[in-house]
Amino acid sequence: MSQIIDGKAVSAAVKQEVAEETARLREEKGLKVGLAVVIVGNNPASRVYVNNKKKACEAVGFQSFEYALDETTTQEQLLDLIKVLNNDPKVNGILVQLPLPKHIDEKTVINAISAEKDVDAFHPVNVGKIMIGEYAFLPCTPAGVMRLIESTGTEISGKQCVVIGRSNIVGKPMAMLLLHESGTVTICHSRTKNLKEICLGADILVVAVGKANFVTGDMVKEGAVVIDVGMNRLDNGKLCGDVEFESAEKKASYITPVPGGVGPMTIAMLMKNTLTAAKQQAGL
Ligand code: GUN
Repeated sequence: MSQIIDGKAVSAAVKQEVAEETARLREEKGLKVGLAVVIVGNNPASRVYVNNKKKACEAVGFQSFEYALDETTTQEQLLDLIKVLNNDPKVNGILVQLPLPKHIDEKTVINAISAEKDVDAFHPVNVGKIMIGEYAFLPCTPAGVMRLIESTGTEISGKQCVVIGRSNIVGKPMAMLLLHESGTVTICHSRTKNLKEICLGADILVVAVGKANFVTGDMVKEGAVVIDVGMNRLDNGKLCGDVEFESAEKKASYITPVPGGVGPMTIAMLMKNTLTAAKQQAGL
């Protein structure tokens, strides 16, 4: 039987830290922190995320600037807005909610965001910094996963860490962060042979494939720490992760639930990045 990692509690602790530092910097240095969130179109899931980001900003004492743009917004118009936000001193962080409508090129948009305000850490400059371990911003979801692993008291150094998934947003940076903590890291993906065997060697298993119940208990090493980044909506409307919780829980020492595991951490780490951006821009 494993211990369930409470992502809501860890997320609340991170937001509390951010709120306290924000209040202190406002009092001592007059620093104000602002995050601009841009959403294009009416994707319902994106709408929920953006509303949650706005609420989190209020909770930690940031100003939030929301730009809800019509589905028909052109790439040029979006790039013009980003230019304005890049030059607005009240805006310390810029987040353009993905996915964008098909007629807009995500890479072009991400590249247009000032690297100093790129609180998602998606800009190539920030991605490169992650590679060499000299980063200001950590990509929010992998950073949240690191914080959850830390909350279990598990040492990463020397451990076999397996990441399933190689996306730019989660899998690749996740592997880098584990490597920086001296884990022995294996990245698995759809072409990986002997996936079960590799997973069975994992002391720390991070799953980010986007397939419901992809990892089952027979793939989990006894005593492993299992982190489930998945968020899949089943036909019956229920949310479920990439890990089959009931069977994996019998083997893991610690496991994250879905919902209530990694999900709440992403926004907490976004708040942390935004505060870091504001401090850097103020030379603090
Ligand atoms: N869409 C889903 N997750 C994310 C995220 O972390 N950042 C942005 N910008 N869009 C997303």
